[in-house]
Amino acid sequence: MANVLTIPTSPFDDQKPGTSGLRKKVDRFQEDHYLENFVQSVFACLDGFSGKTLVVGGDGRFHNDVAIQTILKMAAANGFGRALVGLGGILSTPAASHLIRKTGSFGGIILSASHNPGGPDGDFGIKYNAANGGPATEALTDKIYDYSRVVLSYKTLDGPEVDLEQLGSQRLGAMDVEIVDPVEDYAELMETLFDFDAIRQMVKSGFEFKFDAMHAVTGPYAKEIFTKRLGVPTSDVLNANPKPDFGGGHPDPNPVHAKVIFDLAMSGDGPDLCAASDGDGDRNLIVGKDCFVAPSDSLAAIVANAHLIPGYTDGLKGVARSMPTSGALDKVAESKGLPFYETPTGWKFFGNLLDSGDITLCGEESAGTGSNHVREKDGLWAVLMWLNILAARKQSVAEIMIDHWNTYGRNYYTRHDYEEVDASAAKEFMAALEVGLMKLVGQETAAGVIKTADVFSYYDSIDESFTDNQGIRILFESGSRIVYRLSGTGTVGATLRVYIERYEPAGGNLNQEASEAVADLASVSKSLASIDRFTGRSEPNVVT
Ligand code: G1P
Ligand code: ZN
Repeated sequence: MANVLTIPTSPFDDQKPGTSGLRKKVDRFQEDHYLENFVQSVFACLDGFSGKTLVVGGDGRFHNDVAIQTILKMAAANGFGRALVGLGGILSTPAASHLIRKTGSFGGIILSASHNPGGPDGDFGIKYNAANGGPATEALTDKIYDYSRVVLSYKTLDGPEVDLEQLGSQRLGAMDVEIVDPVEDYAELMETLFDFDAIRQMVKSGFEFKFDAMHAVTGPYAKEIFTKRLGVPTSDVLNANPKPDFGGGHPDPNPVHAKVIFDLAMSGDGPDLCAASDGDGDRNLIVGKDCFVAPSDSLAAIVANAHLIPGYTDGLKGVARSMPTSGALDKVAESKGLPFYETPTGWKFFGNLLDSGDITLCGEESAGTGSNHVREKDGLWAVLMWLNILAARKQSVAEIMIDHWNTYGRNYYTRHDYEEVDASAAKEFMAALEVGLMKLVGQETAAGVIKTADVFSYYDSIDESFTDNQGIRILFESGSRIVYRLSGTGTVGATLRVYIERYEPAGGNLNQEASEAVADLASVSKSLASIDRFTGRSEPNVVT
């Protein structure tokens, strides 16, 4: 019988966890009591979990297994009755969300730093998801953070390690630990939403599809769903074995880090669809033959075509996007008469709207799209959406997008990231911009006249929480928009994100390169706010 130990520790002096949980360099998590502080703070802020079930899993990155052992011992010592853990400690973020919901668990702990690099010098992360399967609300996040600053001890067991490679039941003190297949339930859920027969038929008749799992968590899911259930040749699922350091790569499914598959699709004679997902399986990349689908456009096209998909034929209750996501979705919502919501960045803000039944589909410009089937964004779901739309419409990705723009107009979009800038300089930049906001209104710029300028805040009428300071919006009379916002997920310094968007109505020039279409606006985004004066940077280091 293992003993419960109470270990003295000292409080955190960290900043509040950002957009999606606590995310730091691995060596920070390896410091004595660091992970334990956070986990104890989470448990201390939850009520009524005694004897209940906790889901635990992660994206398999370096330190995943070590952290899981720590968490399981603490869960047992704190009084959970049962833990459900993915085999090998693996659970994609959407699969963890589904497992929590399906099993009626009390909540779950997900270990991931999403698309950030892994390995001993890489990043690690942890977050708590509640019984709805979604990330802790803003209110709970605040509570956990406050507790982490005063926590003086944590509870653990001196028991043995759990064998994460052994399916079935094990005992840890008074807690039952069940190691479960991480893929099966999720694959079953996908079968209920999509027309697998139609996709299988399309694949059989010569449709070429390649998926890059980026040596991250979606490998086993992709093998089961694409290869086994949909008949995609094994060789077309690339990098399907998860590795603790993602094979040395950066598991971010964008044109830069998923370059191989992106270039293949854009080569003129590539596959009909290339796709990829990130470290923990919640983001997606969609590229048709010679047609990159920008994430904001993908969200809009998915909503426009959702009626073709079995899981959504009953219609959509409403839709939502995060504030910096382009207005492409707004056009579809308006034309279809769908209730529409604009939320702050981060999936946690969609949770209440999904739970209350106000929305069915939602997404973000950062390659996250999802629906009410789970409470996280879902990379493979988005890929299956596209496969199903293609199978139903029997058109190419490019044909579908051209048709979309001809109907709704096109929101040319780009994001400039100024990474690892000095944190206080970044704050000063935002403060100075805010102070001068009113003076910008009415100003004539090379990209047109500025109509409004404000700081985005959000009132959640469901839990009555108010979230302010969510980025600065500058709207032009033409419908163009520039947004300045500080990232909440970085692990070094601060990242300034500048989101640039130009609307071209149907009938206009819909066939430009996005970078050309927004060129004027991009230079205005620099001059308007003197980015270089504050940050010392004249150019962004990542442009997507
Ligand atoms: C970034 C994205 C945001 C996403 C988050 C978690 O957050 O911009 O849309 O929800 O990662 O995947 P940020 O670094 O901008 O705070
Ligand atoms: Zn992710």
